[in-house]
Amino acid sequence: MAPLLDGTVALITGASSGIGEATARSLAAQGAKVAVAARRLERLERLAAEIGGHGITALAIQSDVTDQEQAIAAVDRTVEELGRLDVLVNNAGQMLLGPIEDAPTEEWDRMIDLNLKGLINTTHAALPHLLAAAEDSERGCADVVNVSSVAGRVARAGSGVYNLTKHGVGAFSESFRQEFASRKVRSTLVEPGAVETELTDHLRNGVREQVRERFTDIHILEAADVADAIAYAVTRPWHVSLNEILIRPTEQRG
Ligand SMILES: NC(=O)c1ccc[n+]([C@@H]2O[C@H](COP(=O)([O-])OP(=O)(O)OC[C@H]3O[C@@H](n4cnc5c(N)ncnc54)[C@H](OP(=O)(O)O)[C@@H]3O)[C@@H](O)[C@H]2O)c1
Repeated sequence: MAPLLDGTVALITGASSGIGEATARSLAAQGAKVAVAARRLERLERLAAEIGGHGITALAIQSDVTDQEQAIAAVDRTVEELGRLDVLVNNAGQMLLGPIEDAPTEEWDRMIDLNLKGLINTTHAALPHLLAAAEDSERGCADVVNVSSVAGRVARAGSGVYNLTKHGVGAFSESFRQEFASRKVRSTLVEPGAVETELTDHLRNGVREQVRERFTDIHILEAADVADAIAYAVTRPWHVSLNEILIRPTEQRG
């Protein structure tokens, strides 16, 4: 059987590490051409070379998606160089936790600019291409996958603005779903629990240790586990839409 994403093109943001990098590999393994976007170009080029080396085209795009013009340019380059856009994975995100009191508010700005504005601006830029793909592709649909978090369902002390951004991603995904259901652009919200990535490296001292402490005794997810779930969602037949995927390590309680 031919790989299920043969003939399609996917753009994955935040693909220089973690879940985004693993998702690029998974979608490429299903036959998609992949555009991988983030700020660290060298890492993207290495990934693209590795994926391209398996005989599938991959394109590295340096893009800071908090800048609307760069988000638009990432979408434009994908379509110019790979020919179309069938799947957008809005994965780029930051988790800068800590109590509200005395928080460095520039951390809040960074999360709002990336987790929310980056995601909505990239989606907006991609939309005409996704609508065209839904109309003319053999698959009969297109996909927007938004990577949220368990933190998009459950708020915790010390996580207020991250919770705010990820709850926002959930609301936007559902509104998007309703708006584009009849035009066959599917919306999938992915809500991982703890995953082994670089995400906690960016926490400030003190907070980092506290957050890591929560998960020292359990076997947390690998990025590839989440990538598998994303690949599963976007390879369903057009009439099946997995709108929400909550994926936690088996031993994670909260
Ligand atoms: N790890 C977890 O436990 C966990 C749990 C739930 C949800 N998530 C979500 O999963 C997503 C991916 O995170 P991850 O865990 O894979 O962490 P990660 O390894 O730190 O990946 C984050 C990615 O976002 C990119 N990025 C950061 N700022 C960017 C910007 N301004 N423009 C473009 N790309 C940017 C980073 O690349 P550059 O630095 O090269 O730009 C990197 O590729 C996030 O949305 C996160 O909230 C993670």
